[in-house]
Amino acid sequence: MLQVCSITKSFKGQTVFSNLDLTVGQGRFHVMIGPSGCGKSTLFDGLTGVFPLDEGRLLWKGEPFADLRHHAAYMQQKDLLLPWFSLLNNALLPAKTSGQDMKAANDRACRLFERLGLKGYESHYANQVSGGMRQRCALVRTLMFNRDLILLDEPLSALDTITRRSLQSLLLLLQTEFKKTILMITHDIEEALFLADEIYLLSARPMSVSSHYVLDLPKPRNSHDPVLTAIKANMLEKLEGDLNHEPG
Ligand SMILES: Nc1ncnc2c1ncn2[C@@H]1O[C@H](COP(=O)(O)OP(=O)(O)OP(=O)(O)O)[C@@H](O)[C@H]1O
Ligand SMILES: [Mg+2]
Repeated sequence: MLQVCSITKSFKGQTVFSNLDLTVGQGRFHVMIGPSGCGKSTLFDGLTGVFPLDEGRLLWKGEPFADLRHHAAYMQQKDLLLPWFSLLNNALLPAKTSGQDMKAANDRACRLFERLGLKGYESHYANQVSGGMRQRCALVRTLMFNRDLILLDEPLSALDTITRRSLQSLLLLLQTEFKKTILMITHDIEEALFLADEIYLLSARPMSVSSHYVLDLPKPRNSHDPVLTAIKANMLEKLEGDLNHEPG
């Protein structure tokens, strides 16, 4: 569906990512994992056209294109819910800004609220609900863009372990029930092993893909599966090796 071919970006002579390649297959759940500050969010910004890329090219279903603005819905690292709007009105923003039929959008958002466990909270404000509920609302808003590809930047990183677990199962629904293709950033290896069909391990300075793992194992996953334990050990070894090569 998406091919990212040898893309590079520098700011004021500092290269953030270089010769970075990714392949995103339709309907698959891809997870990117890498050291803090290595440039993951900057990569998503570059893919979605926040700034132009210096080199490389992007292919969408085999055709070259400039950026993912019209192909992907991007859920940023911060939930970015507007505090003066109700949860439902926050979720309806993409429909309003893209000129969708508002009656149909409203019905759809209400169904999504129900499916994602937010029924009864439509008129609450973001500061009146838990962190997990805010993230569910941000997910509904992301789905309201009606895009096949969803980019998720550490969607669960601010949540406690138990809330995280329940939202991980919800993320799987995006793939299975809503038929979305997912490209997600996380720093949590267990989360990657629980969710991913493919994992891209990223190296720092400049960021590029250091390993690519294909996990063709059924879900829900058993974390004690020897295949997963072996992949985890390999990833930890690579990440530690990368840290040991950091200057200073
Ligand atoms: N507009 C910009 N101008 C200059 N440098 C930038 C710009 N955007 C990003 N960078 C550089 O990119 C680096 C990587 O930042 P980024 O937020 O993408 O990392 P990250 O991998 O998402 O980190 P985290 O895991 O903490 O979320 C920053 O340290 C910064 O030096
Ligand atoms: Mg980031």
